[in-house]
Amino acid sequence: MKRISDNILKDMTLEEKAGLCAGLNMWMTKGIDRLGVPAIHMYDGTNGIRKTNSDEEMGITGENMPATCYPTGSAIGSSWNTELLQEIGVALGEEGRAMGVELLLGPGINMKRTPLGGRNFEYYSEDPCLSGELGAAFVNGLQAQGVGASVKHFACNNQEYEKMVTSSEVDERTLREIYLSAFERIVKKANPWTIMCSYNLLNGSYASENEHLLNDILREEWGYDGVVLSDWTAVNDRIRGLNAGLDLEMPGPAEYNAKAIVNAVKSGTLQESKLDASVRRILELVRKTTEEVGDRPTADRDYHELARKAAAESIVLLKNDNRILPIDREIVSSIAVIGRFAKQPRIQGAGSAKVTPTHIDIPFDEILSLAGREITVSYGEGYPTDDKIDDLLIEESAKLAADADLAILFVGQPEYAESEMHDLAGIDLPLHQVKLIQAVAAVQPRCIVVTSSGTAMVMRPWVQHVPGVIHSWLTGQGSGKAIADILFGATNPSGKLSETFPVKLSDNPSYMRIRGENGKLYYREGLFVGYRYYDKKELAPQFPFGHGLSYTTFSYSGMKAVQSGRGGIVTFNVQNTGAMFGQEVVQLYVHDEECKWIRPDQELKAFAKIALAPGETKEVRFELEERDFAYYNTKRGKWTAETGYFQLVAGSSSRDIRLRERLYCDFGQEDISFHKFSLLNDWVGDPAARTVLERSLEEMNKHVTEKVELNDEFIGFWGDFPVIKIFQMFGQTWLKDMTPDEVTEELIRTYEQMRIE
Ligand code: BGC
Repeated sequence: MKRISDNILKDMTLEEKAGLCAGLNMWMTKGIDRLGVPAIHMYDGTNGIRKTNSDEEMGITGENMPATCYPTGSAIGSSWNTELLQEIGVALGEEGRAMGVELLLGPGINMKRTPLGGRNFEYYSEDPCLSGELGAAFVNGLQAQGVGASVKHFACNNQEYEKMVTSSEVDERTLREIYLSAFERIVKKANPWTIMCSYNLLNGSYASENEHLLNDILREEWGYDGVVLSDWTAVNDRIRGLNAGLDLEMPGPAEYNAKAIVNAVKSGTLQESKLDASVRRILELVRKTTEEVGDRPTADRDYHELARKAAAESIVLLKNDNRILPIDREIVSSIAVIGRFAKQPRIQGAGSAKVTPTHIDIPFDEILSLAGREITVSYGEGYPTDDKIDDLLIEESAKLAADADLAILFVGQPEYAESEMHDLAGIDLPLHQVKLIQAVAAVQPRCIVVTSSGTAMVMRPWVQHVPGVIHSWLTGQGSGKAIADILFGATNPSGKLSETFPVKLSDNPSYMRIRGENGKLYYREGLFVGYRYYDKKELAPQFPFGHGLSYTTFSYSGMKAVQSGRGGIVTFNVQNTGAMFGQEVVQLYVHDEECKWIRPDQELKAFAKIALAPGETKEVRFELEERDFAYYNTKRGKWTAETGYFQLVAGSSSRDIRLRERLYCDFGQEDISFHKFSLLNDWVGDPAARTVLERSLEEMNKHVTEKVELNDEFIGFWGDFPVIKIFQMFGQTWLKDMTPDEVTEELIRTYEQMRIE
């Protein structure tokens, strides 16, 4: 294929161009033999490759080609490890190339607005900084191997319920600060070769044809020049889509739309230059994925060890009272393992992300092998496949647990509960499992619960009765060994929750609006998603965002924060004060003390995972940019950092804050533009404006009996009054030859003149 796509473009017929804007079939683009344009192949997914047996099939049910199954999004999100994400990206690039994948349909980075989202397991976090950083690392790793990424689903597809016909109604500030921010970070840090638009409407217009989203923000503001492709069948009005910048329709061939495109160009409803821009971007994608990559690797590596390592980094130790873990061989000589998931682990969710794994580690087998000869291990099924309450099974399990020195329960959301296409009905464990835990804990105080689910879980009915809880998420094919290693202390847990676990579902801010009505779903909680809400409401979660325990302890000290240019530099030390090697996820939140606009109490702006030997200390250094101090100011249509005091807050979780420094940041004087209804508070907030106003009031005071003096008392009362109304209220005897409008206009003119001078 010729290097410059333009040369090819000018040789293409209108029909060829229109045809190229849709796939050949389910998973390929079209090739154009006469011009030497090859077809490329794209396959899911987010935690491994789902390559179907045929390019004509969706292949959702049944087995596909075996590939490494890594931890799903919410699990790997809890690793907080950008290097690991990069390594997985590289591995998927290698494995993908060996399997003939040119474009991988991932990562999925939608925010977790509700824990009920059916695809939450695919997404990293409730926080855009964490999602964006992890996503960028993944994309960089993948694309360095010559395999393109498709960052999805753009945007505001945060649940499955009626997603094809529901408009997510989101205000502009929330959109920018919460729902688009991770996409923006990835676009800027990793330049993904494609972005997949979502099925839903956003503020009344389908994402696949949304001018504001695809054109104004993605292309114009962020400067994105890669391909936007549709989610599978997300195209509705193809011409509107092309006009907005949707390049590639999937699946294809969608010949009806190729005809529609040709007709639209001929009739003038679509400019050919718009079509050319899309075709050029598609050709460029084909060139990048086929030309720059060198030979396809023949022998593929075995990535199972990497899948295990990723699982080990993702699993979160939630509770460890009296150091029940790791298992103490001095006092434990028998273990009762209870629960079907110990033998048939849930390693991933269902739908388009579901991978056919190359191998699966079975937790029970791994426990058996680490227990060795000194510890006997028994097994009980614990719960039936249909989760119907079975008292006999509960009794048997309790007996098994009572007869052992320690019980380990494997429980979780059932397989059918978490899938693309429908949301979860709830986030509690099935009632049978709750009763099982309660019964076992009543007879066996040494009781550890290992939970699996791809989303937050409610633990209130049982968590207080057990000393140890490990949340294993859906951690892919290596999870069995990773869990066993953590239980026995061969691995020191280092995962931290990538989302808040509420005490109960109704604590979640979206609880009252989780179903759209009449085609609209209002995101009325606004910015207050996840910990941003729990913090502001002073509501204690069961386990907060960023929480995760270790078998060692870490101390934080010596924090310094300075402004540097239009950003800040924060440094502090972290020491491993325990006796075991461990990794600590240090989290840096920013709190704005003075902003006039309502902001979350704290927002994650940087993090790092630090490996420390016992006794070892390392310095952590974060460089913040102006944007890390900013909020999206809808009045000005841009990100704004206000001069004033901020707090830099370092924590081991969002609720375990270890260090805090106050920092004055000077971002310059606010660029004010006054209008007819600007308030007295606005005028007195700017020294120059205040002077101009004072002069005008002096003039007015000469003609009125009730004089206006700009003292604290007057401003305190009248501050929210527009200045024009101050003239109307106090200056009637003065306003004889002038209208209040004219006086105000003159005021604004004088102020602007003064600024120019
Ligand atoms: C999903 C996408 C996926 C595509 C192809 C759609 O149903 O929403 O995430 O990439 O199918 O399988």
